[in-house]
Amino acid sequence: APLKRQLTETMRKHLSPTIFQLLAMIGEEAGQLSMRAYLIGGMVRDLLLEKENEDMDIVVEGDGISLALRLQEKYGGKVRRHDEFRTATWTHPSEFKIDLTSARTEYYDFPAALPKVELSTIKEDLFRRDFTLNAMGISLHIDEFGELLDYFHGFEDLRKGKLRILYNLSFVEDPTRILRAIRFESRLNFEMDSQTERLAIQSANNLLSVSKPRLASELVKLFYEENPCIGLKKLQKLSLTPFIIDTPAEELLAEKRFDLLYQWQQDLNKDDITTHRSIWLCYMFLLTTGRVKDLSSLDAYTLTKQDKEVLSDLSSLLFSEASLNLSNSLSQTDMHIKFASYQIEPLLGFFTLIKVGNKNSLFQYLLKRSKLKRKLDGKDLKELGLSPSPIFRKILFYTETCQLESPSLTKTELIEKVKMKFSLN
Ligand code: CTP
Repeated sequence: APLKRQLTETMRKHLSPTIFQLLAMIGEEAGQLSMRAYLIGGMVRDLLLEKENEDMDIVVEGDGISLALRLQEKYGGKVRRHDEFRTATWTHPSEFKIDLTSARTEYYDFPAALPKVELSTIKEDLFRRDFTLNAMGISLHIDEFGELLDYFHGFEDLRKGKLRILYNLSFVEDPTRILRAIRFESRLNFEMDSQTERLAIQSANNLLSVSKPRLASELVKLFYEENPCIGLKKLQKLSLTPFIIDTPAEELLAEKRFDLLYQWQQDLNKDDITTHRSIWLCYMFLLTTGRVKDLSSLDAYTLTKQDKEVLSDLSSLLFSEASLNLSNSLSQTDMHIKFASYQIEPLLGFFTLIKVGNKNSLFQYLLKRSKLKRKLDGKDLKELGLSPSPIFRKILFYTETCQLESPSLTKTELIEKVKMKFSLN
């Protein structure tokens, strides 16, 4: 029997009143349908760690879809049902989304290889999960509301900072869990226990059979949502890079590149400049030997249009590397002419990789460019008596270069420079 722990007070303290109420409602409605509902997974883990998490995963002993429909009938909102999984998503009228799943024994992600869903008990449902700390539940049933269900010592592992799988084939059944393990190690500053780590290493070749998009959706979290340098060190410690990248760079080199790019991201953050999530692909590229052909092998990892743009920008930057003359000392204007058309993310990736040129002055240009607030715009040009035409763009680009060269120029001074340069009046 699991060690009993009463968490109602913890829940009251750390969850918003709305969420707390919702949980109580769900438990009660389930009870009226003679089902039992449990809060499970990440939200339970993060509640015990006192971390924010509003991804509400509910498992019911019984039919998740009937419960969702019942909740909708009573409280409104929308239900999306996934009949083959006996699962439904109930969107509460407040737009809050709640996943209601029927307790089951199999963990699967491939609808093609779908076994018949076998309904089961909460204990079996928790057992098919990835790590003990994600395999705890909290009962929402009115008679035992707030009781922790901890069949596999998740609470103890959480306290000890340990990540432990529940059964030996866990990583073989779902190799993405290897990457999840690394992500949780990185995020929570936890460590796999020795058995789990050994099995992760042994199962690593199974990563080769996972589709690239599935790997990508884990890797993006590792390199964007967490500190990528820590993620890299953990990947390297388990020798996983070759299972992710066809042509890996030498380890120390990859590490140096990651450190530099991450440092730059931090420096940008200090000025409130954030990079978008597709920067994860720059990190992926930094894991490779860094040649154009490595970029094409990353194609399969792209998840979004933005991801594709980053790769194509990196590719055109690499192609033009020689003609960019980066070994010369470049003025702000020179750099703006070369780089203005590129987004900050591929430029950061590119500057990290290049061997020639003063990386720091390239970075300083990027920083200045990102902070630049145009002092002159199209409206000002119209006020000067110009009618909109392609020359507007040229003039505005010129004012940008002037501002980059001399940030203290006033608007009046800029107007004077424009008049001179473009022989106006
Ligand atoms: N899960 C699993 N194996 C996976 C993915 C998920 O067993 N490969 C289980 C875990 O119990 C997890 C739950 O499904 O807690 C929900 O998964 P997900 O939302 O992906 O993860 P969270 O643990 O909530 O983590 P995050 O905070 O990153 O969302």
